Amino acid sequence: MIRASAPGKLILFGDHAVVYGEPGIATAINKRVYSTACELEGRKIIIESKDTGETIECGIRDKSKNPIVAAVQEAQKFSKSRSGVGVEINSQIPIGAGLGSSAAVATATIASVATLFNGKEPSTMEIAEMAYKADKLAHESPSGIDTAITSLGGTIFFKKGNISQLDSDPLTFVVANSGVRRNTSDMVLRVKNSIMDPRVALSMFSIGSLAKEARTVFMNKRPVDLGPLMDRGQSLLKDLGVSSTAIEDLVKLAKDSGAIGSKITGAGGGGCIISLSDDPEDLIKAFKENGAFAYSVRTNQPGVRIE
Ligand code: MEV
Repeated sequence: MIRASAPGKLILFGDHAVVYGEPGIATAINKRVYSTACELEGRKIIIESKDTGETIECGIRDKSKNPIVAAVQEAQKFSKSRSGVGVEINSQIPIGAGLGSSAAVATATIASVATLFNGKEPSTMEIAEMAYKADKLAHESPSGIDTAITSLGGTIFFKKGNISQLDSDPLTFVVANSGVRRNTSDMVLRVKNSIMDPRVALSMFSIGSLAKEARTVFMNKRPVDLGPLMDRGQSLLKDLGVSSTAIEDLVKLAKDSGAIGSKITGAGGGGCIISLSDDPEDLIKAFKENGAFAYSVRTNQPGVRIE
């Protein structure tokens, strides 16, 4: 039996624009998914998610768009295994909230299944490549930023085909959930349908430029300067049409409560906003007093690992 874990993520800059080759910055957070794999008799895959109560059962070669099945099959292909496999998932990351739950589940599962059948742990890059392949089967044109950050961990500057680690201390961000669950593929498709509009193309370029400015902020070790860049990022994401009334209300509440910067993380349309604040506990209190579910997360955490 092998147990692996992978972290959730925040996209600090570059949401959606990374799909079109612009740069972005993502960081791994201290909420993880745990995946435990064991060999089963027969040619079956059985996946049990302890959080959703969902069980998936299929044959090892069945074609499936389910991201966890795709992840198991990629890991089996890598390990040249034809055995049956059972996987149990335990997650600390909310689903459909923009915190990278789906990429973390796939990545932790690839690590546990490939290590079980391969006899030794694959390299982080091998895991990241398998996770990206599985993600492509399950999602609409993913950029690869989600599978890259959950595999590598830390804080990355990402541009398709080119990833570098940024030097950062762990930072605290406040996450507030709009309570609206949404689907990343639907949001990516919505943006894709408007990409021929020159204003949308320009917004993409501006979102990418913000990521480059933010990289300089990391290099200068002045995280407080990320705040105004996050606000500009949120305004560009609103222009792209991926914000919502619930999100804008949370952003306003954060600003009124003293946040230095606030924005969507991930695909938007619902999910979470993230805020930087001098006093995270005070901001969490303000969100809670207004009925919003909020908590703090620490960034720059380790990537996928065998437990
Ligand atoms: C989703 O976490 C991030 C998006 O930029 C999509 C992607 O990069 O594949 C919205």
